[in-house]
Amino acid sequence: MKILISGATGSVGGELAKALSGRGVSFRAMVRSPERAGTLASLPGIELVRGDFDDVETLSRALRGVERAFLLTSSSERAEAQQRAFVEAARREGVRHVVKLSQWAADQRSPVRFLRYHAAVEAAIVDSEMAYTFLRPNLFMQGLLAFRAAIVAKGQFFASAEDARISAIDVRDIAEVAAAALVEQGHEGKVYDLTGPEALTHAEMAAQLSSALGRPIAFVNVPEAAMRGALLGAGLPEWQADGLLEDYAHYRRGEAATVTSGVKDATGRAPRTFSTFANDYAQALS
Ligand SMILES: NC(=O)c1ccc[n+]([C@@H]2O[C@H](COP(=O)([O-])OP(=O)(O)OC[C@H]3O[C@@H](n4cnc5c(N)ncnc54)[C@H](OP(=O)(O)O)[C@@H]3O)[C@@H](O)[C@H]2O)c1
Repeated sequence: MKILISGATGSVGGELAKALSGRGVSFRAMVRSPERAGTLASLPGIELVRGDFDDVETLSRALRGVERAFLLTSSSERAEAQQRAFVEAARREGVRHVVKLSQWAADQRSPVRFLRYHAAVEAAIVDSEMAYTFLRPNLFMQGLLAFRAAIVAKGQFFASAEDARISAIDVRDIAEVAAAALVEQGHEGKVYDLTGPEALTHAEMAAQLSSALGRPIAFVNVPEAAMRGALLGAGLPEWQADGLLEDYAHYRRGEAATVTSGVKDATGRAPRTFSTFANDYAQALS
């Protein structure tokens, strides 16, 4: 069976490539630039193919002969169009099953733009009549890696999270669910709501990071305007920065605090705790 994954140079896709390779599976990874794919190329079982979501010809070529495909793009203003193009190319090329990385609480009527586009793409996949598996993960624990510089220099990380409880998930668990859905039978037609095993506040995450790193790490709550300024200052386009603010408003409303059995249902294994994440990434955050 031929499998294609997208996003393999990114956070979830990189872990998925390792998970598939670790299972001894042969698969194709679509990357924009095979020359810049780094250590990916040396994973046993991987075949790199050039492909760009903004170039339909390359999508069709990458998807030719593929039975199961994993769909992930970055959350940009182009995401919905890019994902629809991938779905359409997959349908034309005879792909049987699409595993889509979606997002917790995806809903076409959501006030959160990311949740609207994910739901719209899910609907397009259902309409395509290909088999599907939708992975709807909550906030990624690995998102904290974006704060590495502030954690190292000042022992702090920032967000407009207040005391919201969030059942954040380790991306390695998302990758293991994706690998199961791509390789095993029985995941067709499933929508997996994916969370970690507990709902923590950002202050509680900071306390666990402090233990793992052996020095005090503080969470600093910031007003929305300050978070927006920091995101734009870091080079994020306005559409994306405003989308992230909508995400955090959704967290503050307590809409991402539920703990689900999604990881266990799909893999038979419990999801990693935040403390495991903090210990495993202590060096990367030091
Ligand atoms: N962060 C969270 O807490 C969270 C929570 C739930 C859901 N999500 C969802 O997770 C997704 C992002 O996952 P991630 O963090 O793993 O992404 P990521 O690390 O930003 O990686 C994005 C991947 O997409 C590839 N890509 C970007 N533009 C491309 C193009 N035009 N053609 C081909 N490939 C392209 C990138 O490749 P290059 O190396 O070529 O750039 C990279 O491999 C989004 O859909 C988001 O809504 C995120």
